Amino acid sequence: MTPRRWAVTRELDHGQTPATQGSRIDAYVDRYAARATGMVASEIRALFAVASRPEVVSLAGGMPYVTALPLDMVGELVSDLVTKRGPVALQYGSGQGDPHLREQICDVMRLEGIHAGADDVVVTVGSQQALDLITRIFIDPGDVVLAEGPSYVGALGTFAAYQAKVVHIAMDDQGIVPESLAQTIYALETAGAPIKFLYTIPTFQNPAGVTLNFARRQQVLDICQRAGILIIEDNPYGLLGFDGEPMRALRADNPDGVVYLGSFSKTLAPGFRVGWALAPHAIRDKLVLAMESAVLSHSSFTQLAVGQYLATQPWREQIKTFRELYRERRDALLEALDALMPPEVTWTRPGGGFFVWATLPEGLDSKAILPRAVAERVAFVPGTGFFSDGSGARHMRLSFCFPEPDRIREGVRRLAGVIEQEMQIRDTFGTASARDHNGVDTPGPDLA
Ligand SMILES: Cc1ncc(COP(=O)(O)O)c(C=O)c1O
Repeated sequence: MTPRRWAVTRELDHGQTPATQGSRIDAYVDRYAARATGMVASEIRALFAVASRPEVVSLAGGMPYVTALPLDMVGELVSDLVTKRGPVALQYGSGQGDPHLREQICDVMRLEGIHAGADDVVVTVGSQQALDLITRIFIDPGDVVLAEGPSYVGALGTFAAYQAKVVHIAMDDQGIVPESLAQTIYALETAGAPIKFLYTIPTFQNPAGVTLNFARRQQVLDICQRAGILIIEDNPYGLLGFDGEPMRALRADNPDGVVYLGSFSKTLAPGFRVGWALAPHAIRDKLVLAMESAVLSHSSFTQLAVGQYLATQPWREQIKTFRELYRERRDALLEALDALMPPEVTWTRPGGGFFVWATLPEGLDSKAILPRAVAERVAFVPGTGFFSDGSGARHMRLSFCFPEPDRIREGVRRLAGVIEQEMQIRDTFGTASARDHNGVDTPGPDLA
């Protein structure tokens, strides 16, 4: 290992800038903790910088359409908060979160059949922080996390950062396949691998858009209970269903075996960064300690703003507005796919949420196609980002949450053209050679 002082002195001797001041050389490269090696920026980030140009139809971003909020009202609410409750709103808060907001969160969760007390809730900086805290308190390097294949890219990044080994469970258009879950648990237990928890997004999954059906919910609960495996139920899209009542949460049927993660990012706005974890008491206590060590306390300001919004505004109506808006966009995407895609391409048909998961014909690689798609002014997220081992090259995630319906149709028209061309190239020159896809490929927050 090269002592840092030596490295810096040597550069200064040559009249150069120290390595830490804007240089590309990282003088501390050999000082990072081993876990930091799992943190890698996606090589496709640069492409997405181009994809955010207005002429590109982005079916990539997972950004909620916050423009549909009554922004004047939010402005007034925030301003009132400072003038009327400034000394509290601008002060430190408790590590567990504002007690009144925690009660309101319980009202929200009741819509999914959960009956819990405010004392069971920890408010977090988005559900992303809840994921981080859960991983921090449960995972030692090498521990196993079970997750759907594919799974949420932000969770995979967190698991990688804590050096967990993610084992994917097969999923179909009805969610996790219970037999695959049972067999994987059996194989891992037989091999002596320590399984710490199952991470699942049972409703309107990110990225696949599928929902765990009613019968399977009970099977998944039973399998995990028998094996003594904790379930982390991540449910940011649960209230964004397009038909009927919200699905009953897994947590509703097993308060001791499930940690439930919720968020106001999709039902209000991600900019407030308010999410939560609902956990059995022993786990809750650890989460509060981990929360305090991470940030002391969440922002009182945004917690009170969300609390005030829930107390004074028709939030259920607002969720309905979001649902109708996203349903129209989902319909636009599915109709365009039906009409324009080559018949060899298949895709899921989500009943809510933000995402469609498409599968390309044999021999096509979505990551290789992306630059050509961006050149044709359409973007998507390649499937490789949603698997911990970088598989998934034949898949792509298409988001319908942000572009307007006409743009979605135009985006699909462009994408269908690119895929047809790729199929012709494949037919002429043969299958693209297998490419290396290693590690977790995190494309960044606006794409999560
Ligand atoms: C499945 C899932 N979990 C968690 C998050 C993080 O959401 P937030 O931290 O904004 O609550 C997202 C964001 O896209 C998500 O899709």
